[in-house]
Amino acid sequence: MAGKEPLVYIDGEYQPKGSAKISVYDHGLLYGDGVFEGIRAYSGIVFHLREHIERIFEGLRLTRINIPLSKQDLMDAVVETLRKNNFMDAYIRLIVTRGRGNLGLDPRSSPKPSIIIMTEPVAPAHGREAREKGITAIISSYRRDMVDGTSHELKSLNYIQSVLAKFQAIDAGTDEVVMLDHRGMVSEFHGSNLFLVKQGIIQTPTSAAGILHGITRSRVLKLGEELGYDVHERDITPYELLNADEVFLTGTMAEVVPVIRIQGVAIGEGKPGPVTKEIIKGFQRMTQDPKEGTLIRERVPVPPARTRTS
Ligand SMILES: Cc1ncc(COP(=O)(O)O)c(C=O)c1O
Repeated sequence: MAGKEPLVYIDGEYQPKGSAKISVYDHGLLYGDGVFEGIRAYSGIVFHLREHIERIFEGLRLTRINIPLSKQDLMDAVVETLRKNNFMDAYIRLIVTRGRGNLGLDPRSSPKPSIIIMTEPVAPAHGREAREKGITAIISSYRRDMVDGTSHELKSLNYIQSVLAKFQAIDAGTDEVVMLDHRGMVSEFHGSNLFLVKQGIIQTPTSAAGILHGITRSRVLKLGEELGYDVHERDITPYELLNADEVFLTGTMAEVVPVIRIQGVAIGEGKPGPVTKEIIKGFQRMTQDPKEGTLIRERVPVPPARTRTS
């Protein structure tokens, strides 16, 4: 594929990136009416693809977008797009929009959803150095919505609140931004989930705080337990956040990244802590484990090494 443009899947057909198009009348563009997934493939394994497909189908059910593909069809389409592009390591963006309709908001004018799959090699959001040194954040003045279907629990195409919050981080010169919920409790980062460690206990906000049910979050919760830590989902106040021993974020785009300063306050010793480092190592190990995902190509067993006879 070297030098060639990636092919984009659109409704069962493949178009080169530069000319891949959908209608400007698509309600995904006009109203943010659609849902999406960010997925990653590592060394030929699509990390937790099944869970991403389950989540997008939950969103489709809620938004009442009916697609003509089964969960298995959609999984196959993702894998086939990666195969076509010959990508073994890639970021995958799967989008389902309401489809082309009238200029009015009424979803009934869009009978045919658009299904789009983009794949390309994309480095983790904050770069590899961030994983070793940690990153900084502020707390946004924008609040995650109440849990009423418009919060990030639904991974819809409306990310404008996160975009505005990201501008606050840019203006403040930090890498990230923490979102609070409507009560003032800690929710998540603008595009990733939040964890803290206090006295060896791993903690993360509950879904009542308007978070996205992150696939990485859920795997990291389990990983924490596998590593022998106590793990709690609970309400976290900003005070507790700033007094944590360690803070880290999780997400498909960013993976696992230590956060070492928030709102000008050093977290713990102001450097990546031991629990975060262990989680990062464990996460990296998992991404290389075929049991943690879907293979892009079936692996041919390596024949046993021949013993020398002479
Ligand atoms: C708002 C938000 N929170 C959390 C996450 C992390 O979710 P996941 O681990 O499934 O990528 C994302 C990722 O897209 C996100 O957009």
